[in-house]
Formats: sequence, structure tokens, C-alpha cells
Amino acid sequence: MNTIFSKLWLDYRPLDPSFTGRVAIRCPSRVDRLGAAVSELITALSAMLPAAELTFGADSAAMIFELDIADFLSEEEYTVSSDERGAAILGGTEKGLLYGVFAYLREIRSAGSFVRMSRRVRPAVGLRMLDHWDNADGSIERGYSGRSFFFEYGRLIVNERTEHYARLLSSCGINAAVINNVNVRGDAVRLISEEYYSELARLSAVFARWGISLYISIDFSAPISVGGMKTADPLDTSVSYWWQDKVRELYRAVPSLGGFLVKADSEGQPGPYAYGRDHADGANMLARALKPYNGKVIWRAFVYNCSQDWRDSRTDRACAGYRTFAPLDGHFDGNVILQVKNGPMDFQVREPVHPLFGAMKHTSLAAEFQLAQEYTGQQLHVCCLIPMIRDILGFRTYNGSSADTVLDVISAAAAVANTGDDTCWTGSELAAANLYGFGRLCFEPQLSAEDILDEWISLTFGSDEQVRETLLYILLGSHKTYEDYTAPLGLGWLCKPGHHYGPDPWGYEFDRWGTYNHADRDAVGIDRSSNGTGYAELYNYPLCRDYSSPETCPDELLLFFCRTRYDHVLHSGKTVIQHIYDSHFDGCEQAEEYARLWDSLEGRIDNRIFENGRRRFAEQLRSAREWRDVINAFFHRLSGIEDEKGRRLY
Ligand code: GCU
Repeated sequence: MNTIFSKLWLDYRPLDPSFTGRVAIRCPSRVDRLGAAVSELITALSAMLPAAELTFGADSAAMIFELDIADFLSEEEYTVSSDERGAAILGGTEKGLLYGVFAYLREIRSAGSFVRMSRRVRPAVGLRMLDHWDNADGSIERGYSGRSFFFEYGRLIVNERTEHYARLLSSCGINAAVINNVNVRGDAVRLISEEYYSELARLSAVFARWGISLYISIDFSAPISVGGMKTADPLDTSVSYWWQDKVRELYRAVPSLGGFLVKADSEGQPGPYAYGRDHADGANMLARALKPYNGKVIWRAFVYNCSQDWRDSRTDRACAGYRTFAPLDGHFDGNVILQVKNGPMDFQVREPVHPLFGAMKHTSLAAEFQLAQEYTGQQLHVCCLIPMIRDILGFRTYNGSSADTVLDVISAAAAVANTGDDTCWTGSELAAANLYGFGRLCFEPQLSAEDILDEWISLTFGSDEQVRETLLYILLGSHKTYEDYTAPLGLGWLCKPGHHYGPDPWGYEFDRWGTYNHADRDAVGIDRSSNGTGYAELYNYPLCRDYSSPETCPDELLLFFCRTRYDHVLHSGKTVIQHIYDSHFDGCEQAEEYARLWDSLEGRIDNRIFENGRRRFAEQLRSAREWRDVINAFFHRLSGIEDEKGRRLY
């Protein structure tokens, strides 16, 4: 494992190197002096005021920092009030206090001085979680940032890097992490056995110090794979007893465990279907075993038929999650959270918001995002997901409640992590903005994408105005750029099968995954109205109406919902085919501009970062051209329609 790591946005640099006065930290005994909140403040102040004299509780001091726990605040809530002579930070618990310290440090570092601020904040989403898809052998499923820093050769690793990681997560507001892949394979099956307990306990203690609950993915058939039983039937009492014993044993060893994440009956993973049971039966059995310890079951809704016949045009993968789980609304125990991917397919750069968010009124829901850029350029292309996540959280479900956005209906948010043991953690330095932004949005979703990026840029790169402007421009435009050259009008899955990098417009067309575009010489897209697969009807009114017709469907989702002729005129005034051609040329030009702009930062940012970025922007440009030419050639050959601007379509 690579043990060299960048501090990312937690690299505290001197703020006032000439300040030699005394700085006092004051806190009553109910604040833990050895806890993370106090220690983070000390770390930061020592680095920011390197010549100051730091003391505890001194009577006279030039700057005073008062930390306390306050009953009137909820657990994770904090208040900060500060001026140029110090700050008073209160938290509902140590955890709230820690968030308050981080918020204060963020503010003064972004401002470049000890500023006046007054704030009371409580996180908008209760459970803010990262899902690592790390395998026990050290590989990472869909990992684009090196190898795992949790596992190596089947062993669980807890070291300095782990501690820094926990700090990073905590500083942007994340309070839970699943450390192993939802596809539980190899040694990780045995994470719930004796041999891993002491390391799990160490890891959970490091996490807990930074306010993070440790979760693990489990194999639904563990009674068989771990317990040697003949069945994992959730309604078989010997199976539930096995789980109760297992959970008791686990919590004895790892008392602060958060619970389990489960991928069941999905893409070959075992689940309750094998025994004729449904997902509520499976989830509730585990939930009951976890309940005495306040543990939670995070149960994934990513269930569909992945052995579909491509000739069968009535079966629609997009409908599968809804049809499986909507009838079970109200059947799940209180400590089950149903984790729903942001869209009905699989983390495409553009998908409609999952209809389950508008349907499950009696079930705790988590929205699942994917920071690992599986379908969005694999961290070689820059694709900032913050605006997309923000839009999804703000999306109205029309479920009949007065507060009906996705944010209103969820109690948790999870994201597939984009980290690994790379020196810069996320392969590309710019991809770290997605990690930071996800945490910040779950905490304070009212922040704009620009506010969050501004913060992240100044904490990571300092205050150079040209750097700030350039990165803001690239990052804010990057999602649209990626969409432009890969996924016109909501048409996903034009990528190469398997690894999902690069264009292959018919790669998924005659396969078993339910991911089709049905392009022919006249038209493209899937009719998902009531005349087609019926998917659009799964949304509440007026969404079901709007999505059903090309007249009302937003352009960006048109080909997802409507089978459309190439000469159909969009709301934008262009024809479908011209939009396809134009967006591919535009996206490519943007990629060219990004590479040029990045080059202009030479000498203004750290050279290692610059060189790493330069290689990635070059690859993005090469790949964007490939996308442009393959997709345009594909549609040109099928439709026979020329580009009205006469450009070469190959
Ligand atoms: C995608 C991805 C898989 C992953 C799955 C999931 O299909 O390609 O690697 O296992 O999502 O979310 O479970």
C-alpha cells in the first residue's frame, strides 16, 4: 500500500506567521480535552499561528477560543460566533462541537484571516455515508485511484492514512462509512468472524473519534458461507437465531458498529428470493437482530433482471426497482433504510430521478450517488458531480406532501467512494471536489455548487485568483461537457460494455442488461409512455404527464422517455440529429479549452498536481474526440442525414 498521501483540503498553512501573542483555548470539563474537536483546533492553530504561544485556559490572552457543549443544540448541531480576537464554538455533543470547529476553520482559512462569523447549523440529512467498494484482496470494484487503503492481502489495515481519512470525512460532514464492497467476495465474507474483530474494533475506534460510524457489507447467505448452515431463509428460525448470535458477538467486539449494508438478489448476489421470500422479509430479519444495539440495515433497491432478452421490448429495467419495492412500502422495520440509486438505471451522467422517491411514504430512504466515476470518465475526465447531486436533492417528487423534494423524503444519503491509496486519494486532484462536495451538500444543501467549490478550491489551492477562476470555470462546466460528448438527450449506455470507458453505441444493444437505445435509420430512444413500457406512469402527476410526450418532456431526458424521429424539433429549436452532432462538437471543444486552461496554471499550482492534471486532460481530450467521431459517425450512417454545418462526421 502506498503510505504517502496528500492532506488534501486539510493542509493548514500559516495565516499569520508574525503573530507572537498568547492564544488561549478554554473549555469546561464536560468537553473532552483529548477529543477530536480540541485536538483539531490545536493542530490548526499551531500551523496557522506558528509563532504564537498556545495555552489552555490562561486568564490573559490576545486571542481566546471557547469550546463548550450546549443542551439547547441537537447532537450534531453547532454554533460559532467569532471575531478577530477568537471564537466561541458550541456543539450539542462532541460531534457537533467537532463540526463547529471544522466550520470555523473552513471560514477563516477561506477568508485568509480571523473573521467575524455567526452561525448556527444542523445537518440537513441525518446519515451521510460513503460506500467503499473495496475487496479484501486490496482491489477496488470500479476504483480509479489505486488500491484499497482499508484492505491488503485479506487483512484490515489501520494506520496514519486511516486516521487522516477519517479527519477528511469528518471535516466535510460525513458521519458513516461502509468499508467493503456490496458484492461481498473472498475474505471479506469473513469480516463478521472472530479473525477480523480486533482490527474492526480498532478501525471503529478511529472512526468514532471523528464522528464516523463503521458499517460493513454482509453476504445475505452468511449463515451458509460463514455459519456452515444449509439455508439462509430469513423466515427460518434457526437462521434468525444464527444472525442474532452473530450480531451479539459482533457488537461485543465492536460496540460502535453502525450496522449492515446489503445488496441482495441483485446481479447474482444471494437474497431472500431463493427461499420464496420478499425483500421486507430479508431486511426485517436482519433489522431485528440489529435493533437491540441501535444498528441499522441499509438495504439496496438496485434489483432488476440482468439476464434480459434484448428482443423483449416490454420488459424495462427502469421499472424494476419501483415494481419490486413500491408494493412493500410500510412493510419495513424502523431501522431499515432502503437505499435507492439516484436514477432508475445505474449512475449514468443523465437519468431521471428514481420514481421510488415519490412513492415510498412509509419507508426510510437513502439516496445513493456514485462519486467513483464509473460512467462519468473514470477520474481521467473531469466531471464535477456537485451540481447534479444538488439538483437531484432539490427535485420535486409531487408525493402530495407540502415538502416533497428528494431532500425532504430521505433520511440518509450515500455515495460510492472515489478514493484509493493514490497519493492524492482520488486519482485526479479535481475528483476530490466530488468527495468534499457530497459531504457539504448533505450537511448544508442550500449552499450553491459555486459556494462549495469556492471553499474547496481555496482550502486546497490557496487564494490565487487565476487558479480560482480557472478551476471554477472548468469544474462548473464539466458535467455538461461530459454529457455533451457521451450521452445526448438522456441516451445512456453508449459506452463500452464491462469497463464502461470509451464509446461503443451498440455495445449494450444486443446484450442481457436491459440497457438499450433502439437506434435505427428513422428514430432513436425508448417509448416509456403508457404506449410503451409504462415507466413514465410510475411518477406522480404532473411528472408522469410531462415525461410521456416529446412536447412536454425536457430535452435533456427526451430519448430516455420518448422514441423520437431524428427530424423532431426540440424545445431548443434544433432537430434531434443536429443536437447530437452539435453537442458532440461542443463537448469536444470544451475539453480542448479545459486542457488549454489547465496549461495556463503551470507554475501557479504544485508541479506534481499540475503534471498529473496535464496527463489527464490530454487523455480526456483524446477520448472526447473518439466519442465525438464514433457517436456522430454512428448516427450519420444510420440516419443518412448530413450535418447542417457541413463538418466531417467520418
Ligand atoms: C454497477 C456496477 C457494478 C456494481 C453495481 C452495484 O452495475 O457496474 O460494479 O456492483 O453497479 O451498484 O451494485
